[in-house]
Amino acid sequence: MSREVHVNGEWLPEAEARVSVFDRGFLMADAVYEVTAVLGARLLDFPGHMARLRRSLAELRMPEPMDEPAWLLLHREAVRRNAVEDGLVYLQVTRGAADRDFAWPDPPVPPTVVLFTQSKPGLADGPALRTGIRVISVPDGRWARRDIKTTQLLFPSWAKMMAKERGADDAWMVEDGLVTEGSSNNAYIVAGGRLVTRGLGPEILSGITRAAVLRLAAEMQLKVEERPFTIEEAQGAEEAFVTSATTFVTPVVAIDGAAVGAGAPGPVARRLRELYLEEGRRAAL
Ligand code: PDD
Repeated sequence: MSREVHVNGEWLPEAEARVSVFDRGFLMADAVYEVTAVLGARLLDFPGHMARLRRSLAELRMPEPMDEPAWLLLHREAVRRNAVEDGLVYLQVTRGAADRDFAWPDPPVPPTVVLFTQSKPGLADGPALRTGIRVISVPDGRWARRDIKTTQLLFPSWAKMMAKERGADDAWMVEDGLVTEGSSNNAYIVAGGRLVTRGLGPEILSGITRAAVLRLAAEMQLKVEERPFTIEEAQGAEEAFVTSATTFVTPVVAIDGAAVGAGAPGPVARRLRELYLEEGRRAAL
């Protein structure tokens, strides 16, 4: 089925959806994005994603093209027009199209807004959620402002390919001997009965799923330590897992070929996944 894609105020069949070759998103990755999960045709954690979008735009001195109620209408329209039951809505905002120049256009040009959907039937019951994934470690080769959700995804995409070439599913990135995060997810371990995940800062993306999971962990009376950890500590941990909008809570069962815990999804990851999905569905818009 051909999708309907939103481009700058218009809904178009996907084959007709176009942006300029001069778009700064295309030329310079001068663009930010959000991915919101859809379950049961409703949007998960929508306010969190929009709050982060506002922050990304503000950090890059880009104006917000519309307010949150308008974004919500647009997201719902994308879900409705494409009959998405389970899947995601992808939103990208770029600084717009202008002659190629390292300086930002002055006066500013209108931003480019693109929204499309990807249907993923059974998203919440994918096999990776049950069997867990295997990760490798790679040096973190990204720029230093990973707190801004930009479309500069070449390194994470390359890291994912390195993982696939080595027979694994994903990569955990390491800087100064410490895990930053996964190629497109936040990384956690359960060590000594405590949930450990890196604290927020420019080194990682402030995951919307991360915020929800830490809240749920506190409700479960699970002690949380926000601090970095090494690959060795993770390999010796009771459990490891990752979180993101589209993978929810996904267990990690091996790191660089070494089994984590029993080499199977652990109880903490399983419980957090159940709670996240339950809560997420209840609060979905
Ligand atoms: N990625 N860290 C990185 C580097 C990410 O790209 C993502 C999300 C996350 C998790 O954030 P959240 O829980 O808000 O999805 C952490 C999205 C899903 C993507 O690029 O497709």
